[in-house]
Amino acid sequence: MFNEKRLVEEAIRARKFAYAPYSHFAVGAALLTENGKIFSGCNIESAAFTPGSCAERTAFFKAVSEGERAFRAIAIAGGKEDGPVRGVCPPCGVCRQVMMEFCRPETFTILLAEGAGKWQSFTLEQLFPLGFGPCSLKG
Ligand code: THU
Repeated sequence: MFNEKRLVEEAIRARKFAYAPYSHFAVGAALLTENGKIFSGCNIESAAFTPGSCAERTAFFKAVSEGERAFRAIAIAGGKEDGPVRGVCPPCGVCRQVMMEFCRPETFTILLAEGAGKWQSFTLEQLFPLGFGPCSLKG
């Protein structure tokens, strides 16, 4: 068990740091480690487009680069940068693949904020069925 409401609030809070001058779509993420730490992330765009990062990967790479490799859940909140969160922002395929690298698909929880105090909950397995991960390489 963990505090889902708090994680969703942290994701909404992280939106304020989004650097999204091209899409004007601000995304925040809050990643909870197995030992109870929360790493936030925002999307970071680029004039050259492809070097940009989603909020989820920002959070994962911050955490992994600080020694964390065991994760419990992530909350994601996205919407037009000049407004509140109005609907879910599902993680892109690349971010689902990164989650697959570090998380157990059956238990890792993905919370999609729908607005303040409202969210939907999924497992990684539900959003990324039959994903290719580290176990797939073991034959
Ligand atoms: N984006 C995220 O940060 N996370 C998602 O789950 C979906 C999309 C970002 C990428 C880009 O900066 C902007 O949202 C519009 O696609």
